[in-house]
Amino acid sequence: MSTKPNILVTSAAGKTGLHVVLQLREKGFPVRAFIRKRDHRSDLLAEAGAELFEGNQYAITDMRRAIEGMQRAYQCAPTAPNGLHFSAVFTAAAHEARLEHVVTLGQWLTAADHPSLFTREVYLADHLADLSPHTSVTKVNPGWFADNYMMGLGLAAQLGLFAMPLGAGDQAKNAAPSNEDIARVVVAALTDPARHAGKSYRPTGQKLTSPNEIAETMGRVLGHRVRYMDVSQNMMVKALRAWPPANYSEAAVSQLAIYAEEYRRGTFAINAPTEDVEAVTGQKPKSLEEIVAQAVAAQPAMRRKWLRRASGLAAFAKVLLTPRLDLQRVQQDRDYVTLSAPRFSQDCAEWRAHHHPSPPTH
Ligand SMILES: NC(=O)c1ccc[n+]([C@@H]2O[C@H](COP(=O)([O-])OP(=O)(O)OC[C@H]3O[C@@H](n4cnc5c(N)ncnc54)[C@H](OP(=O)(O)O)[C@@H]3O)[C@@H](O)[C@H]2O)c1
Repeated sequence: MSTKPNILVTSAAGKTGLHVVLQLREKGFPVRAFIRKRDHRSDLLAEAGAELFEGNQYAITDMRRAIEGMQRAYQCAPTAPNGLHFSAVFTAAAHEARLEHVVTLGQWLTAADHPSLFTREVYLADHLADLSPHTSVTKVNPGWFADNYMMGLGLAAQLGLFAMPLGAGDQAKNAAPSNEDIARVVVAALTDPARHAGKSYRPTGQKLTSPNEIAETMGRVLGHRVRYMDVSQNMMVKALRAWPPANYSEAAVSQLAIYAEEYRRGTFAINAPTEDVEAVTGQKPKSLEEIVAQAVAAQPAMRRKWLRRASGLAAFAKVLLTPRLDLQRVQQDRDYVTLSAPRFSQDCAEWRAHHHPSPPTH
């Protein structure tokens, strides 16, 4: 029997959760993986030796059962509505179970009066996480994931276009972390709380890159020229709804549009890149080229033949034909809590004090 502590991983089939489980298993930790349903991802987790727990992680009764017998946990709210509900359920169950250590996935943007309800909920979840006297906490707060760019990889392969609403091609920059590197920081904190309790980390990629440089990187990997195209927010919203792989709800899309505005404002470039991945894990973060190459290798169909070109044009046409989404209405229809004077991260004094000591850069 293992003498290592039992670790619960929530959102275990998600972008970071999946790697957290696999890396913990590589290190020989007993892991319970909280999944919504069984599919090829849960097969992978089971093959790695994780115990699967199938349930609803927004339900306290399921969370209590999932947390029973655990000593540590990864708290990862899905990119979906009701994140605060998830976090309240998790924190209540973790408190009852007297978990010794929790690692939370938050956001670089987290600010009290942020226009994104999801982000304000992360702000509150961070406060809830600190309330339990028996549980130590490590906070991992990444910015815009490199994985988000991969939604544009199909079109880059098919039509030579990297289309995203990131502003002018040579301006807003980001040092985007890979899912694996975020997971490695989480795993380091889960496996060595004595070193990481009470700390906050912001995993980033190796260096800041502009949208033009991201397109060039995709081009180098794909073996043909890829040009960046700055698209409107409207277009991004249509694309997120037209392309099933993204699979975001209308509510999530309404928030991602706000994050794209933060991107254009340069918020992800502030104080980036960080040394956190290397300092915490002893390994350099992946380069953008490695991340793109890995994504291309995972989709062998991504070759530029005339058939692919035709399907690229069809996908583009589908985006154009997708009806516009009124983001304001989406939020009103869901009775989202609204603020009379929301403030983007850089406009918030509390955020600047913690993230960036100088005045707004836009
Ligand atoms: N993306 C970014 O650029 C970015 C940047 C900074 C911070 N973040 C933070 O990252 C977090 C999301 O992390 P992630 O991307 O690793 O997660 P994710 O890919 O959104 O994964 C969420 C997982 O939770 C599962 N799930 C959803 N509802 C469930 C339910 N009711 N019961 C059980 N499981 C359920 C989903 O299942 P299915 O797969 O079956 O749907 C999915 O596997 C968010 O809190 C966000 O604030 C993201």
